[in-house]
Amino acid sequence: MEILIRPDAAAVACQAADIIEPYVRAGAALGMATGSTPVATYRELIRRHREESLNFRRCSIYMLDEYLGLPADHEQSYAATIRRELTEHVDIPDRQVFSPNGNTTDPVAAAADYENQLLRARVSMQLLGVGANGHIGFNEPTSSLNSPTRIKALHPQTVADNARFFDGREDLVPKLVLTQGLGTIQRAGHLVLVATGAAKADAVAALAEGPLSAMCPASVLQLHPHATVIVDEAAAAGLKLHEYYRFADAQKLPGQGY
Ligand code: GLP
Repeated sequence: MEILIRPDAAAVACQAADIIEPYVRAGAALGMATGSTPVATYRELIRRHREESLNFRRCSIYMLDEYLGLPADHEQSYAATIRRELTEHVDIPDRQVFSPNGNTTDPVAAAADYENQLLRARVSMQLLGVGANGHIGFNEPTSSLNSPTRIKALHPQTVADNARFFDGREDLVPKLVLTQGLGTIQRAGHLVLVATGAAKADAVAALAEGPLSAMCPASVLQLHPHATVIVDEAAAAGLKLHEYYRFADAQKLPGQGY
């Protein structure tokens, strides 16, 4: 796992955009995430679209997860969120942006459909945030490390964390979701996880330096042959091998990609 420590959230976003840009230029299938952390990365990609002719026309975008029971046009559905935060500001057609269908009477079939779609899509790069309890997508602690796309119940802490998007009301947060599984996520060619702020320090330490464990779903990145974790100083505070990561970062061979 490659760990890049950057001074602040803006530098994390810039580094993430540097890594994502070649995938966009190649017209790849991109895995994108919601949550507040990737928003700064999306702003930087939008800036590059406007100012540096970074075109998304040939790309497709696959979302990680979706609430169950919200209409697709609900402003807090993840389908609406990615439109608002990224895709309506760049030149990707809506028909090339995909999410699990959370507005369905048959979520089991919707999960299987999305898993099959992802098997065909071959996502080249998957952007990830991390929950304070170590979840990625909505794979809460004790998720199977080999799980496919499926229905999950949110942990009460995740419901509390996400209530800020629902007028602070936990009762309005859907308790069931569809999420790419940890096995699904692992099929992407390159996993790029971004984390910023002190509230993520424990999760970052656990995912990078803790044991591989379903109790920290993000630790599954330890199994992936190409995983990059980009953190700011605050989120890196719990790492033991801080100095080693800086040293390794500085030793990179010229021209060697991330
Ligand atoms: C949600 C999303 C995750 C995201 C997490 C952290 O639970 N399903 O994909 O990583 O929130 O979000 P934030 O970046 O806002 O802390």
